[in-house]
Amino acid sequence: MSNPVLTSYPKEKINILFLENISNKAVQAFKQHGYANVKQINGALSEQELIDAVKDVHLLGIRSKTQITEKVLAAATKLQAIGCFCIGVNQVNLKAATKKGVVVFNAPYSNTRSVAELVIGASIILIRKILDKNNAAHKGIWMKDAKGSFELRGKTLGLIGYGNIGSQVSVLAESFGMKVIFYDEVTKLPLGNAVVCKTLKELLSNADVVSLHVPETEQTKNLINKQNLKYFKKGSILINYARGEVVDLEALSKALKEEHLSGAAIDVYPLEPEKNGDSFTTPLQGLNNVLLTPHIGGSTEEAQQNIGEDVSSKLFQFLERGITSGSHSVPAIALPPIETAHRILHIHNNVPGVLSAINTTLSEHKINIVGQYLKTNDLIGYVVLDVDKKLSKKAIDLLREVKATIKVRLLY
Ligand code: NAI
Repeated sequence: MSNPVLTSYPKEKINILFLENISNKAVQAFKQHGYANVKQINGALSEQELIDAVKDVHLLGIRSKTQITEKVLAAATKLQAIGCFCIGVNQVNLKAATKKGVVVFNAPYSNTRSVAELVIGASIILIRKILDKNNAAHKGIWMKDAKGSFELRGKTLGLIGYGNIGSQVSVLAESFGMKVIFYDEVTKLPLGNAVVCKTLKELLSNADVVSLHVPETEQTKNLINKQNLKYFKKGSILINYARGEVVDLEALSKALKEEHLSGAAIDVYPLEPEKNGDSFTTPLQGLNNVLLTPHIGGSTEEAQQNIGEDVSSKLFQFLERGITSGSHSVPAIALPPIETAHRILHIHNNVPGVLSAINTTLSEHKINIVGQYLKTNDLIGYVVLDVDKKLSKKAIDLLREVKATIKVRLLY
């Protein structure tokens, strides 16, 4: 399908600001798409620096350190979209972004595979007692024996949480010959030969390796506690690459010292240092057969590249087609391109009567609507209108006057 003629604001005039060393690949992708005006700043900026920097910016790219506050959004009068080139969006005041009609994208699943691979790797290291052997070898001690070292094949992996990561681990584990059981609060389709457990207790008392893949919520806080640790099989292994609050580390430390569990791999902690080089403590430090890592489950070069590609493509889809799938602020609309009409994006406060006002105004001026898509959330509504090409300029002017309008943009 050929590209429709672009009539919107020229791409080379769209001001793009990328902070926090967003990968050069993303910058190149924007330039290749015709967005020549990309400015890069290496670190994060303070609130005041940001307020000064965003005044003329149409598109802002950040990672997890830049705080997008209500004041920053108020100063960013031209801002259309924020691309969070990371997994989360909690650094953005989403309510304020929504009220301003600023689309917010991220890349929630880009590091799924990185975590899943490491869970399998950690399982092998622990079940083979590699940590002991590695420690001994570093001290010049030869520790060649098979006692207490096992294969993953034939063992049972219990996954708590069968979402994006849990289900990936499920697939990888089966290819290693493991039996997979899982427990999820939501009904999930088992992949391969995985089997659902009806209760957490059922899972814990049957698994040789238990791996956590749940979010941090009220329900998952201290899910693995003194009581639940008693249900674990003797000699089993716990892996937590999910969130620190999910495991009571004091209780886990006790279970390991009593050799009820034979090992653990922990990547996430209730309190994590802010930056590299900061010290941190956990009750698990110094315990044999405990693999400690500094929240790097999803940190790979591939994940970084996936993040760049995922967020860039969401931003292109929005800038060039009006598609908001994956947005955390403006309601998500996925829609086909159209070549026979011009497309207008209209974002408004979600109050009764806006759609009817749009339709009345346009029909009064004999502007034919070829296609119309609407989605709302609690705060705002997003309407995409495909209108007669000859009358699109007029339509834009009329739509700006509609009550409760936040933003109007002619796309093409
Ligand atoms: P997801 O949202 O796709 O899956 C989570 C699953 O947990 C869902 O199926 C949900 O129904 C289930 N769940 C929620 N509450 C539950 C409960 N109380 N009991 C049983 N099941 C429950 O999330 P995803 O992407 O698989 O991530 C899982 C975890 O991994 C998250 O905590 C995430 O923050 C963490 N993570 C850690 C990384 C690291 O670097 N260590 C990197 C990426 C994610």
